[in-house]
Amino acid sequence: MIRLRDARPNEFQSLSALCLRSKAVWGYDDAFMLACRSELTLCADDLKSTNVQVAERDAIAVGLAQVKVIDTDADLLKLFVEPALLRSGVGRLLFAWATTRARSLGAVRMSIEADPGAAPFYERMGARHLGFARSKSIPGRMLPRLQMELTG
Ligand SMILES: CC(C)(COP(=O)(O)OP(=O)(O)OC[C@H]1O[C@@H](n2cnc3c(N)ncnc32)[C@H](O)[C@@H]1OP(=O)(O)O)[C@@H](O)C(=O)NCCC(=O)NCCS
Repeated sequence: MIRLRDARPNEFQSLSALCLRSKAVWGYDDAFMLACRSELTLCADDLKSTNVQVAERDAIAVGLAQVKVIDTDADLLKLFVEPALLRSGVGRLLFAWATTRARSLGAVRMSIEADPGAAPFYERMGARHLGFARSKSIPGRMLPRLQMELTG
């Protein structure tokens, strides 16, 4: 049974570690993971400036989503699931939370810069592939850019 709750201020380190474990499922090497570390790290400020939701099972965090909304535009900044629980519905729950939260804050669309391995998941959730964006962590790497319409 998966439960969703707000992130707690004292768990940013363990949530950051979860992001890194989850990212590593795509088989990246150590140098790549090191380059991504900063982008995958949450800090206490993130709780004030963004919305962070945790999925937990038996009181253990097994996934998280982070959304930022500015005016009518939302960005899905993070969506990570514990490797042992992939394909068990946690990502869908967190994605649904992200769209609901973004909409409730006035967003009409949500942008996603996806890991290439995760792009088919977002398309399955209803997002449209719009093009490519430069990775903020790896110079020269292009990432699928998707958009989820939140109206209608
Ligand atoms: C992408 C991710 C969040 C998906 O979460 P998940 O919990 O495994 O997904 P769910 O079990 O909720 O899957 C929902 C649906 O999407 C499909 N799906 C999930 N991952 C998929 C993938 N990589 N490719 C294609 N389809 C996928 C599932 O089969 C399911 O389909 P259904 O509607 O037929 O049941 C998860 O794979 C993950 O954390 N990956 C590693 C970290 C990462 O890359 N995060 C995204 C950063 S942009």
